Amino acid sequence: MRAISITVGRPGAALRDVPEPQRRRGEVLLRTLYTGICGTDRGLVNNQLPFARPPPGSGDLIIGHEALARVEDVDPGTRLRKGSLVVPMVRRPGKCLNCLVGRQDNCSDGDFVEAGIRGLDGFMRDYFTDDPTYLVRVDDESLGMLAVLAEPLKNVVKAYDVYDLVSRRSIPNCRDGSRSCLTVTIAGAGPIGMLFAMLFSSIGMDVKMFSRHDPEGRLAELASRMGAEYFLREDRSKQLPQSDVFVETTGSPEVAMDGIRALRPNGVAILFGTAPGGSEPLTGQDVIDIVERNITIIGTVDGAKEHYIRALNYLSSWKDSYPGVLKSMITSVVKPEESLDVLARRPAGEIKTVIDWQ
Ligand code: BGC
Ligand code: ZN
Ligand code: ZN
Repeated sequence: MRAISITVGRPGAALRDVPEPQRRRGEVLLRTLYTGICGTDRGLVNNQLPFARPPPGSGDLIIGHEALARVEDVDPGTRLRKGSLVVPMVRRPGKCLNCLVGRQDNCSDGDFVEAGIRGLDGFMRDYFTDDPTYLVRVDDESLGMLAVLAEPLKNVVKAYDVYDLVSRRSIPNCRDGSRSCLTVTIAGAGPIGMLFAMLFSSIGMDVKMFSRHDPEGRLAELASRMGAEYFLREDRSKQLPQSDVFVETTGSPEVAMDGIRALRPNGVAILFGTAPGGSEPLTGQDVIDIVERNITIIGTVDGAKEHYIRALNYLSSWKDSYPGVLKSMITSVVKPEESLDVLARRPAGEIKTVIDWQ
């Protein structure tokens, strides 16, 4: 069967022929239908992720952590049936207390593994086997390949939960008791930026999103279809709008600080993107402003099974409430044989590329 792997420590990816996995008792055998490509995959292929790690005893790592798969074979009595659609989870627990209660997304000692990223083979292969604990059933079969968005979206749903928790320390100034008078500014208009935009827009907040390029105005058009406003920000000379929430998805420390500086009192910054490089000083005035205005800065990674389940529910509802928007986010579908270039370099205008394994 086909598998896409990297040799950790060396740039480049290869499509190889590998033996089919054998299902053991208690495990599920899965047929991969679609896998999504994200920035983490490109970081792995270009040897830029310091935490990349092959499974024990191997130098190679099969990549891929955004997937939709179909159950091929399973022990009788398991809740999953042959034919069920599932999204596999990325992160698998270590031994700390957060991990032991299924919250490996908040692992406290770093002893977890991540499929397709560190210590465990991923899903860019025709078949894989897995423990049903880490498979999230997709009840809405009509989602089709859109279900690959559940993996990136689960990160956003968790980030929203953390925001929701800290935002309760003060009362939003909205007379109707909702968050409809609050403004959120989102840096970056890739898939994560878009998913944040949809989530905040669906609870009635005023959403603004920016990036450095918008070829043919496609991002602006897509943003407006999700109830958000898009603006171009080619460089730092453009002042960011004042907002109550700022979401950083690009990983730029300069952009992060610009966003934090534009927060209103009781504002919350959600830092999500990571990228090597860049620097921006935190000045004495920044410290004063952060303290005096009760600013909270959140760093958040990954998500738990609950967040995958809620992500799938959001996708089902957004499919109808934002018609065609999720589909437009998938800017191209390629076969595994055509995916190596796309895995190495992001094509211009890409939002999400999906690999079709069928
Ligand atoms: C995945 C997360 C993962 C993170 C860091 C992201 O692309 O969505 O689940 O924790 O990479 O490895
Ligand atoms: Zn990812
Ligand atoms: Zn842990």
